[in-house]
Amino acid sequence: MNTRLNTTLSAMAALLISFNVGASGTDIHLEAANTDITDQASLQRGATSFMNNCSGCHSIEFMRYNRIAKDLNISKEDMLNNLMFNSEKIGSPIVSSMPEKGPKDWFGNMPPDLSLTGRARGTDWIYTYLKSFYADDTRPYGVNNHVLKNAAMPDILWQSKRDKSAEAFDQEVRDITNFLDYVSEPAQLIRYRIGVNVLGFLFVLFILSYLLKQAYWQDVKYGKWRAKD
Ligand code: HEC
Repeated sequence: MNTRLNTTLSAMAALLISFNVGASGTDIHLEAANTDITDQASLQRGATSFMNNCSGCHSIEFMRYNRIAKDLNISKEDMLNNLMFNSEKIGSPIVSSMPEKGPKDWFGNMPPDLSLTGRARGTDWIYTYLKSFYADDTRPYGVNNHVLKNAAMPDILWQSKRDKSAEAFDQEVRDITNFLDYVSEPAQLIRYRIGVNVLGFLFVLFILSYLLKQAYWQDVKYGKWRAKD
């Protein structure tokens, strides 16, 4: 019995240590993205920014243009003028114009599809990643990244970083991050609202059921069906 306990304990200790080692390997301080999925203006700005700066390389192929238009309240004209640049249809999924071959040679890595990155990496990761490019002459594009070491992606937002105030730049990155969070789970927009409604409904149902129970038991407790003591 004792030996078995010992083995279990040492196995758990080993597990804990290995977790720790794993954690220290990716010991990057992530900034809080502070995104707000209910902020529609931020999502709209993020969508425009994404389509202008990122969609040339990155697809978000689980998302369609008309879904974005509907969810974010963007008119079809605005979609066609500001968010769609190729000859896609409004109902098409958002694939990038990158050819199958080529990117691997140009960048060293394929620009990944970002449909689920919001969930896989989390908003803090994306936010910090986009802000963490630094000059590094040994890299092909002259930049490296603190969060994703030797990232094959150029510092796309360098112009914004140079021209905008620190707050405005942070806000732009926050908007893009917010948009990618929305893309990774569009149902978030209605999930919270439905949740609150369901709880409200259950609360009202609870009160009604309680009153009904009182009415039923009135007879048993005080009326003609009362048990003889
Ligand atoms: C010139 C092409 C190009 C553009 C434009 C571009 N990226 Fe990238 N991006 C890449 C490549 C290539 C990678 C792969 C990096 C690697 O794995 O080394 C990448 C990786 C990423 C990743 C990491 C994904 C992961 O999970 O590892 C994120 C997030 C990302 N890009 C976001 C963006 C955003 C947001 C924009 C627009 C502001 C953008 N990218 C614009 C080429 C690009």
